[in-house]
Amino acid sequence: MSAHQEFPALKSGSQVREPMPPDGIPASVLIVDDNPSKLKAVVSVVSGMGLDVTTANSGREALRLLLKQDFALILLDVKMPMMDGFETATLIHGRPRSAHTPIIFITAEAGSDSDRFHGYTLGAVDYIYSPIVPEVLCAKVRVFVDLFYLQRKLLLQADELRESKMMLRELASHQELIKEEERKRIAREIHDELGQNLLALRIDASMLHARTGDLHPRLHQKASYALNQIDATIKSVRGIINDLRPPVLDLGLQAAIEWQIEEFRRRSGIACDIMVRDENFDRDLGEKSATALFRILQESLTNIIRHAQATQVQVDLNRDNGWLYMKIADNGVGMQGNGHNKANTFGLAGIKERISMLGGDLQIDSGNGNGTILAISIPLILP
Ligand SMILES: Nc1ncnc2c1ncn2[C@@H]1O[C@H](COP(=O)(O)OP(=O)(O)OP(=O)(O)O)[C@@H](O)[C@H]1O
Ligand SMILES: [Mg+2]
Repeated sequence: MSAHQEFPALKSGSQVREPMPPDGIPASVLIVDDNPSKLKAVVSVVSGMGLDVTTANSGREALRLLLKQDFALILLDVKMPMMDGFETATLIHGRPRSAHTPIIFITAEAGSDSDRFHGYTLGAVDYIYSPIVPEVLCAKVRVFVDLFYLQRKLLLQADELRESKMMLRELASHQELIKEEERKRIAREIHDELGQNLLALRIDASMLHARTGDLHPRLHQKASYALNQIDATIKSVRGIINDLRPPVLDLGLQAAIEWQIEEFRRRSGIACDIMVRDENFDRDLGEKSATALFRILQESLTNIIRHAQATQVQVDLNRDNGWLYMKIADNGVGMQGNGHNKANTFGLAGIKERISMLGGDLQIDSGNGNGTILAISIPLILP
């Protein structure tokens, strides 16, 4: 079969589309031929495709060039003295760096090297007969260069995706920080402004209560109501402050966790044990990590109240080899279906995000009817 028969659609002089590099950098092509005039002819065709062309006049020279540079494609003359095209190709593909570089062999008329091509029927390898038909050469080169550009485009897109994911993560982390700061500020303001005013009000009300007594029984009773009302308000203000940012967090993570577990027991009536395997387990833990772990435990315990139907919860805290571990296990019904990835729920997604922002890890063991275990590990910032 002649080269013309192989590509009947291509006619001499037809318009050839140039492959477009995704980043504007043209692909490098290596052309190897010991015959200067044949080399010149191939170069003139390939150069017209907007490619970066390098030449070599022997297999040895080609191998030397490959030590310094990677190529998107190699055009390799089969008949060369010393080291022929097949030997050169074997050495090229034997090197890890160029193992997958596509090769187009340039060979004499059809049939002459057909036996030897059998060894090259797999992988990114093709051949073309000389005398060369420019359109056929262009078409073959274009296939490999298009593939190369596609691969480069995918790599560029993967880089962009990685970068934008990192930026999103940084943004989320920053927002989390701002949110926590804002909660702290509002909690402080409520405490200082509202709390102080309520206290002053309580002093006045209690004075009124003390001074009225039997002389003004109705006023005395009113003062008593007011006092109760003020006490209830003080209590709910304290609750709001605690929800916003428990002041106990300032005493360290362990104290905050113990406080939260106590609150959980009181609110839910579910038994909850805490096991701290290392005294001072929260030393060297930055404020960011401490707040994140506190919020993670808060969401996990809320999930247990809402979904688990558990009667027993176990919280384990440990540190080892620069890592801090927190395990929250319940004996409830376990996550049903795809609880892990439920649409329009944000608790577990928030937990995952907080952990990955700190470079930590989350393992969830659930769904087998034996309750749910959340195992969290966070790297410590060691001095
Ligand atoms: N301890 C648990 N036991 C059983 N199922 C759980 C447990 N924790 C979570 N789940 C399941 O996983 C799902 C996802 O939890 P997630 O905290 O993300 O969302 P949510 O609690 O339903 O809503 P929210 O967005 O308000 O947190 C829950 O709807 C529940 O089905
Ligand atoms: Mg939840």
